[in-house]
Amino acid sequence: MVEAFAVASGKGGTGKTTSTLALGLALAEEYDVTVVDADTGMANLLFHAGLEDAPVTLHDLLLTDSDAAVADARYERFGLTVVPCGTDLAGFRDADPTRLRDVVAELAADTDVLLLDSPAALGSPASVLPIVLADRTIIVTQPTIPALSDALKVQEYAASYGTGVAGVLFNKVRPADGIDAIAPKAERYFEGPVVGTVPDDDAARAARRAGEPLLAYAPDSPAARAYRDAAATIDVDRGDGDALADRFRSAVIPEAI
Ligand SMILES: Nc1ncnc2c1ncn2[C@@H]1O[C@H](COP(=O)(O)OP(=O)(O)O)[C@@H](O)[C@H]1O
Ligand SMILES: [Mg+2]
Repeated sequence: MVEAFAVASGKGGTGKTTSTLALGLALAEEYDVTVVDADTGMANLLFHAGLEDAPVTLHDLLLTDSDAAVADARYERFGLTVVPCGTDLAGFRDADPTRLRDVVAELAADTDVLLLDSPAALGSPASVLPIVLADRTIIVTQPTIPALSDALKVQEYAASYGTGVAGVLFNKVRPADGIDAIAPKAERYFEGPVVGTVPDDDAARAARRAGEPLLAYAPDSPAARAYRDAAATIDVDRGDGDALADRFRSAVIPEAI
């Protein structure tokens, strides 16, 4: 029984990886959670989770002639199962992104919640794959007009692949942003609710430097509290794991977008 979420945004640096791990840690209080660095071209989850020396990563699983087993790329950290991705260009070049379907199908058999840290630039078939595979998308954005307009594009992509929006998560919010006025308006344009408003918080940057997820590094920081509140608003709808695995395996990868 599992629900798969893509954590996505229109831009890089909005905090997808920070959010994936933060929501993952919060949801792990209740569920068995697996997070996957599906941002295979700009992987950075390994740095946030202290896994830069992981011997086997998603890149190894995506190699066409791979003999690595999915189990070899699963690491138990901070109460989560983490599947990191390597950062070298050769690994990205040699990877067959379509194999992500089988990897995710196998992981789905063994968890309640799958969080797919997704690529920002949705310009290629491979980069939209996590959104294609997910049941619902969590859109991470800053509350500025250009960021919101990119976030709406993510929603459009998701809708075109039949993936719903679980919610919009505002991140790196500063007092000057006027979030109280923006959030209600955003709810009119997005299919899902605003699930959270996470302040810009030095603790998030410090956690990244320390190689630890924010909720492990600074659990009482304002940003960590906001992430826990956000996770509490997400109703996980655990579908049938076998049906989901079949869907993953047979997902059609768009040829051109
Ligand atoms: N709420 C926040 N406040 C301050 N810095 C943040 C916050 N969320 C993320 N960051 C920082 O922003 C940078 C990019 O975050 P990251 O999660 O790696 O983004 P992405 O995965 O979208 O590229 C990191 O240095 C991270 O520590
Ligand atoms: Mg990232």
